[in-house]
Amino acid sequence: MECIATIRESHHADPTHPPKRSEVVINLDHQATTPCHPSVIQAMEPWWREQWGNPSSRQHRLGLTAAAAIGSARERLAGSLGIRSDELIFTSGATEANNLALLGHARARALSDGEPGHLISVASEHHAVLDPLLQLKQEGFQITLLTPQTNGLLKPEQLEQALQTNTQLISVMVANNEIGVIQPIRELSDLCSNNGITMHTDAAQAYGHLPLDAEELGCALISLSAHKFNGPKGIGALVVRGGTELQPLQWGGGQEQGLRAGTLPVPLIMGMAAAAELSIQDLEERQARLQALRNQLWTDLKDQNPTIELNGALQPRLAHNLNITVPNVSGSRLQRALRPRLACSSGSACSRGEPSHVLQSIGRSRVEAEGSLRLSLGRDTTAKDIDGAIEVITSAIRTLTQH
Ligand SMILES: Cc1ncc(COP(=O)(O)O)c(C=O)c1O
Repeated sequence: MECIATIRESHHADPTHPPKRSEVVINLDHQATTPCHPSVIQAMEPWWREQWGNPSSRQHRLGLTAAAAIGSARERLAGSLGIRSDELIFTSGATEANNLALLGHARARALSDGEPGHLISVASEHHAVLDPLLQLKQEGFQITLLTPQTNGLLKPEQLEQALQTNTQLISVMVANNEIGVIQPIRELSDLCSNNGITMHTDAAQAYGHLPLDAEELGCALISLSAHKFNGPKGIGALVVRGGTELQPLQWGGGQEQGLRAGTLPVPLIMGMAAAAELSIQDLEERQARLQALRNQLWTDLKDQNPTIELNGALQPRLAHNLNITVPNVSGSRLQRALRPRLACSSGSACSRGEPSHVLQSIGRSRVEAEGSLRLSLGRDTTAKDIDGAIEVITSAIRTLTQH
């Protein structure tokens, strides 16, 4: 879930027939979501039209065909992460996967350990991690939120120092959704396994953009979301490795090994598997191309606007992310100036209109966070888009800083 509460779109009269997208607007907001790729839409098509069976209906062909398709999609997705297919639980997205991982595991552990324990995460995590942790706090769990370094990265020693004898679960995302920095997950998960602690990672912004292998990550729980890698919205998964204890959040038909009841959305799952294959197929070449474009965006913007500052370490960082602060400019005026020609977000995507908690966690003031831009490239971003974005942003900054 990403929302930009501060932007009020003028509403089109008929929401059932959306207007054609304006070609004039350059889209650099691909970390909010990505367009569903035409080949993904094609892969979903038969499962909306002819093959509309319920995979739990085992008594007729329509159901059995759907069940077989789910089985194959599950295997392909599991294969992409090097896990067994029964270690993948489909959910409605990464928000639900994070909730299932955190609430599900913490509550299960509280039951088996006899009391709520200690949980650790980072202040720069997405709200889909922070809010379930808040809920757990209300249920009696003790929560530690670590502050990342000013470059956005967590030092393994910070985690080591925060460990307690009753620490049960740690949650650190692979790649940040605002500043794109990539956390040292393997070093953190080694600390967890050496201390008998479960490690969860929110990989919503990383899967399909970085090579990921569950064994190498060393995490027991991994959250995924299809719409971040050109798949459909409303589908994701939680990887649950090696029988990690988990309580379900909902009960019903016993689907997904009883961990996530509800009829499986066959077309969305087929779309997620197709999108995963697509994103892995051209991963290296796409990331090299986007990294070159992103670097050009940063160096040219900095050349032309020497006062702007980069948020987060340039390395290790997602190839398609840039986040800058424009000093002495009102965030709302900046967004208003950009909107006719550039779609991007202020640092505060999905922060209910509040300045970005991520930027504030790395030391930015509220005002600086408001005057920040997250620019995220996608598989269709061209050199012309980048040139256009540089021109639009530079001209907005010049207009707003002229006295
Ligand atoms: C890091 C991260 N976690 C979780 C989510 C939520 O994912 P979903 O929209 O699939 O619920 C997002 C998307 O905004 C995200 O960027």
